[in-house]
Amino acid sequence: MDDSRYQVRAYRPEDRRAVADLVECLYHGEASRRLATLRWKYESNPYVSSPPACVVDYPDRSAPRGIPPVVGFLGLTVMRFACEGQQLLVRSPGDAAVHPDHRRRGILTEMTRWSRRQVQGSFPLYLTTTANRQSLPAALGAGYFPLASGVSLCHSTASGLERYLLAKRRGQGSSETRTLLDLCGSDKLPHSEAIRVEQAPRPDAMAALAADHPGTAKRIRLVQDTAFFQWRYGNPLGKYVFLFQEARGRPVGYLVLGLGRNPQRAHILDYGADPEATLSLVRYVIRSRLAGILSVPLWGLDCELASNLTKLGFGQGGPAGWLVNHGPRHDLPILVRPGSELPVAEDWFVDGVDVRHPGNWCLKPIVSDAA
Ligand SMILES: CC(C)(COP(=O)(O)OP(=O)(O)OC[C@H]1O[C@@H](n2cnc3c(N)ncnc32)[C@H](O)[C@@H]1OP(=O)(O)O)[C@@H](O)C(=O)NCCC(=O)NCCS
Repeated sequence: MDDSRYQVRAYRPEDRRAVADLVECLYHGEASRRLATLRWKYESNPYVSSPPACVVDYPDRSAPRGIPPVVGFLGLTVMRFACEGQQLLVRSPGDAAVHPDHRRRGILTEMTRWSRRQVQGSFPLYLTTTANRQSLPAALGAGYFPLASGVSLCHSTASGLERYLLAKRRGQGSSETRTLLDLCGSDKLPHSEAIRVEQAPRPDAMAALAADHPGTAKRIRLVQDTAFFQWRYGNPLGKYVFLFQEARGRPVGYLVLGLGRNPQRAHILDYGADPEATLSLVRYVIRSRLAGILSVPLWGLDCELASNLTKLGFGQGGPAGWLVNHGPRHDLPILVRPGSELPVAEDWFVDGVDVRHPGNWCLKPIVSDAA
């Protein structure tokens, strides 16, 4: 970036309004929701005391009218992982946006460099699940490694597909389409003594149920404690349904569904560590016939769950797989990179675990569920 008028600096809460305008091209919905999302994602993250994001000022008096002084933004969501007992903070870049009049001048490249220089040493890894075609070249140029493809396993039936296509034709928000969210807690859901369908998370119970389970092979695991659950489902752009499996009045498993803009599309976002309880909840969702297409990103699943879902009829192909996996983002990878400026061979390992191997991760979608 040759033009010295561009100044990269740390994001401050006072920048929220200008940034909300910049990221309009990335988020659906009105300004108030974008403002709430920025506050949630960057200012309320439980793992950092100040928002880990940067902006670029362009304080040029001769600039054409209408160009805001903030012309670039790069957010970083911080997540905590554990690897063989060692805790590590991971930064996830996202919401990169540069004002259209200032693109292709190296601003994203410079914001990427700047944010890495600020935290040398404290964040051993960067991971991103939201690269798009415009930001991918900058990420690859910055040394990211394509960890896994973004494909999902999908489940549908002939009538589920029909409901999905009908809802698509009617447009989002149509009152004719009942969704799982409308039916939470109502007696219209199939009756089950053991399953509760709710609109709010239960952070303490979910933290206990997400804890490691014997036999889970993944080694770099997202830490899902109470603070995580209190923050994670506060995403103002997300629409979530929480299912709990109970035994003797106590929760033994949970499943979280994110609802798509098409009300007949649900994504499995999260589940407890007990595979049997998870499968029983997935079977319930299928039986309830309320999500025309149900999907789960393949990059987050451990092999056992992936194989059990396949037995329930989930797959990458078929009409549902085609609709989900051939969208505009279908071949975009999940990316990973060590935190060091110029990584050497050992930086790609955490406690002997190779971060370039998808089988070494236990990931769940967080910031990519609602954008
Ligand atoms: C993505 C975006 C932030 C890039 O910002 P930028 O400041 O123009 O990017 P840079 O000038 O730093 O370019 C970085 C690299 O990406 C390449 N690049 C940038 N925009 C590109 C585009 N539209 N298509 C292909 N390559 C592109 C550049 O050539 C450069 O590669 P190089 O260093 O090998 O030349 C900007 O295009 C934008 O705001 N897009 C709309 C929002 C968006 O899609 N954000 C991504 C969310 S993950």
